[in-house]
Amino acid sequence: MEIIHSIEDMLEKINQLKKSNKQIGFVPTMGFFHDGHTNLMEKAKKDNDIVVTSIFVNPLQFGPNEDYEQYPRDEEKDKLRAEEVGVDILFIPDAKDMYPNKRIIELSIKGRIDVLCGKSRPGHFEGVITVLTKLFHIVQPNKVYFGMKDAQQLAVVSALLNELNFPIELVGVPTIRERDGLAKSSRNVHLNNEEREEAAWLYKALLQGQQLVVDGELNPDIIVKEVSDTIINQTNGVIDYVEIFSYPKLQPITVIDQPVILALAVHFQHARLIDNLIFDKR
Ligand code: PAJ
Repeated sequence: MEIIHSIEDMLEKINQLKKSNKQIGFVPTMGFFHDGHTNLMEKAKKDNDIVVTSIFVNPLQFGPNEDYEQYPRDEEKDKLRAEEVGVDILFIPDAKDMYPNKRIIELSIKGRIDVLCGKSRPGHFEGVITVLTKLFHIVQPNKVYFGMKDAQQLAVVSALLNELNFPIELVGVPTIRERDGLAKSSRNVHLNNEEREEAAWLYKALLQGQQLVVDGELNPDIIVKEVSDTIINQTNGVIDYVEIFSYPKLQPITVIDQPVILALAVHFQHARLIDNLIFDKR
């Protein structure tokens, strides 16, 4: 595995690969790898000649009171893990190279972000699409791999690629979970033992919500109420949101008559966790 830090070296490397017609699969990450990340890399490995993974904790997508400084980092362990999985190139740029000057270009988003994490985290998705635009121009991948755990991110990236004509195929990959159902997340290390046990209820609550729909309940308000009650009763977490929208457009709905996302975000003491299920009424 080759580890590249400089943007220039990366561009040169990609140039060579393009000349020999290599199909490039790209997995952008913020590091502190878990099975959710490595699963994306494995999928990329199967589909492409070359797998590029990036590690970059992007300051632009963290709000002023968010966990940029506390975001977990372990570059050495990540290198070993990426090598094991068969990543060909690990790209680890510096913040000062990614954002050397005061920026005069700003990307903005008009849809799909007025709800869920976009509403709770103003500026977050603008930060995400800015760094991804830069990374996509540097890595020039044929395919990019994103987890459905961050379903709103996937919906926003899909719009980015379509509207700005990136010649890149987007692959969405299902959420990888712990044995008790908790979605794998770099932030799970910030849960204490009690919170870690309680956190399994987030997925259980989502499953209960889905089951209600399967049993014929098509009123989103009732489902949201049931899911919220379970979380309030079973955890000490504080709900940021529990919501249902159409997916991928993320429009409000009054009856579940199309594919929907049931999504939640819950604050524990030192970690804000998100999870979701996407399903139809059948
Ligand atoms: P990060 O949180 O490191 O996630 C990197 C990728 O891993 C994302 O596509 C995310 O959806 C996926 N992922 C995380 N947990 C997962 C799980 N349990 N199952 C499946 N996939 C999972 O998302 C980001 O970084 C950043 O916003 C980034 C896209 C890199 C831009 O900075």
